[in-house]
Amino acid sequence: MKERKITRRELLERTIASCAACTFVPFLLASGDERIAKVTDAGIEAGTMTFDLTDPAYSPLRKTGGAVYANIEGESQPVIIHRVSESEVAVFSSRCTHAGCKVELPKAGEVVCHCHNSVFDGAGKRLRGPASRDLKRFEARIQQDSIVVNLS
Ligand code: FES
Repeated sequence: MKERKITRRELLERTIASCAACTFVPFLLASGDERIAKVTDAGIEAGTMTFDLTDPAYSPLRKTGGAVYANIEGESQPVIIHRVSESEVAVFSSRCTHAGCKVELPKAGEVVCHCHNSVFDGAGKRLRGPASRDLKRFEARIQQDSIVVNLS
């Protein structure tokens, strides 16, 4: 096999190309940090978003008390989807109504914002703390192996 020497210019071009590729890798990896909503083929309806519970990303929602963050259209911060009971689900913004911090996932039926210790119930209703309003809530229902969220 014949070896070919690389020119200084080629080396520089290859280095720039690999740096450009490295620039985009963190963005691709970052998209895996949040559980991104998927619209299932069967669940497309105007003004709704459907989360497939057979998707491992949403497996915590198969059990009562399970909760995940998820991105939905039109919201700059993720929502929290919380399986309140076998037949009920609550969906509400993770953006605290006090000063906008991201609230924690529900634990023992309460959602805490650690910025200034506001506390909400498992459906996003304000219980105590400096926040004066409930978290923004969305209508949602369980439909077979999916959760359907009304976006309006
Ligand atoms: S931002 Fe949540 S309590 Fe202040």
